Amino acid sequence: MKKIKIVFTVAVLMLAFGACKYDFIIPEEAPPVDPNASEVSFSQKVLPIFTTGNNCTACHKTGGTSPDLTAANAYNVINNAKYINIANPSGSKIYSVAAPSTSEHSHKKYTATEAVIVLSWITQGAKNN
Ligand code: HEC
Repeated sequence: MKKIKIVFTVAVLMLAFGACKYDFIIPEEAPPVDPNASEVSFSQKVLPIFTTGNNCTACHKTGGTSPDLTAANAYNVINNAKYINIANPSGSKIYSVAAPSTSEHSHKKYTATEAVIVLSWITQGAKNN
């Protein structure tokens, strides 16, 4: 009888801890990035963050403050080691400078949702997709 109780307790504990895996709490600093999440498209998801309502392109436009984040140039301009670090996605300048928690950029910052999109895109290889 005792054995059954122990086995039962262990089973319940395993279920409880197994379930915890899905209870993500979103911290402000580094949003969780799910590597198995569906692929984030640069043109559909990332670019609109830069350009919609001139969010970033008000200043980061051709001939303006670098990096040039306009639709025509953004990918080519940021697709290098200065802005993107695949080995350490959250250290990528295109993410970190405008991240919600940063004090590096006193201008527009990413919202938490935008930050997750940009970081996910870099984590997935920063493709021109
Ligand atoms: C009101 C103007 C303005 C807006 C809007 C703006 N920025 Fe900036 N950004 C600047 C200026 C000016 C700098 C140069 C450094 C500084 O003064 O902070 C800069 C610097 C940067 C840098 C670092 C450039 C480098 O080569 O080191 C990045 C990356 C950046 N901004 C990204 C963004 C993103 C992403 C957005 C949109 C969410 C954005 N910026 C919106 C003015 C702006």
